[in-house]
Amino acid sequence: MPAARLEVANVSAGYGATRIITDMSFDVAAGDRLAILGRNGMGKTTLLATLMGLSTRHAGQIKVDGIDLADLRTSSRSRLGVGYVPQTRGIFRSLTVEDNLSTGLKDRPRSALAEAYEMFPRLAERRHHLGMQLSGGEQQMLSMARTLLGKPSILLLDEPLEGLAPVICDELMSMISHMAASGDVTVVLVEQQIERALDFASRVLILERGREAWSGASSELRSNQSLVDRLLGVGIH
Ligand SMILES: Nc1ncnc2c1ncn2[C@@H]1O[C@H](COP(=O)(O)OP(=O)(O)O)[C@@H](O)[C@H]1O
Ligand SMILES: [Mg+2]
Repeated sequence: MPAARLEVANVSAGYGATRIITDMSFDVAAGDRLAILGRNGMGKTTLLATLMGLSTRHAGQIKVDGIDLADLRTSSRSRLGVGYVPQTRGIFRSLTVEDNLSTGLKDRPRSALAEAYEMFPRLAERRHHLGMQLSGGEQQMLSMARTLLGKPSILLLDEPLEGLAPVICDELMSMISHMAASGDVTVVLVEQQIERALDFASRVLILERGREAWSGASSELRSNQSLVDRLLGVGIH
């Protein structure tokens, strides 16, 4: 599947009647890279969950290449090409690496697992290990590899670097950048590591209490330290 365009227009959402996201609008061109930043609890995860149909949408439209996702369940969104790597990683702790990966194959043959092992040789070495036996970095790789096996046209990554050692963050970010550089996938990256997110993304959206507080080019945010301090704090995690 080639990269897809993501259009979000006037979306409000939350959990049941509780509103967390208010009137969010943004557009990510096919093959582009958007970073979503914001302090803890500002609604980043809820926004991604809303794109996947995992929260309650109160208003607004979400379109992938012009197709409205409103009435589609999560599994249909995934089949349409929206890949989601949740903050919780969502791997099966008591299944092996290989069985975890198999759940991401959708209708593809098992031979496609070789793609995941090629991208993450570490997973190949641990293919018979259980999910719970993996390090945090390996679990993140597994979660990402499983989603990538579905050949997403839009990839939603929720804090993939959380809790990982810097050297593993380097490794993951270089993998994600390499993938994005192919132009075959549109990436929305939620991250707390601001520098890494700005290095990766062309555009940035900052959330504050479920609303857009700022959006613009990564280069613009990088050169505006007072804005970074005000909206993202310093040295926070
Ligand atoms: N399942 C849920 N039910 C009700 N409220 C929730 C749920 N998950 C998160 N929230 C609330 O939504 C707000 C935004 O949380 P979240 O989207 O996880 O923020 P972030 O990812 O930016 O840290 C928080 O106030 C949080 O307590
Ligand atoms: Mg979150």
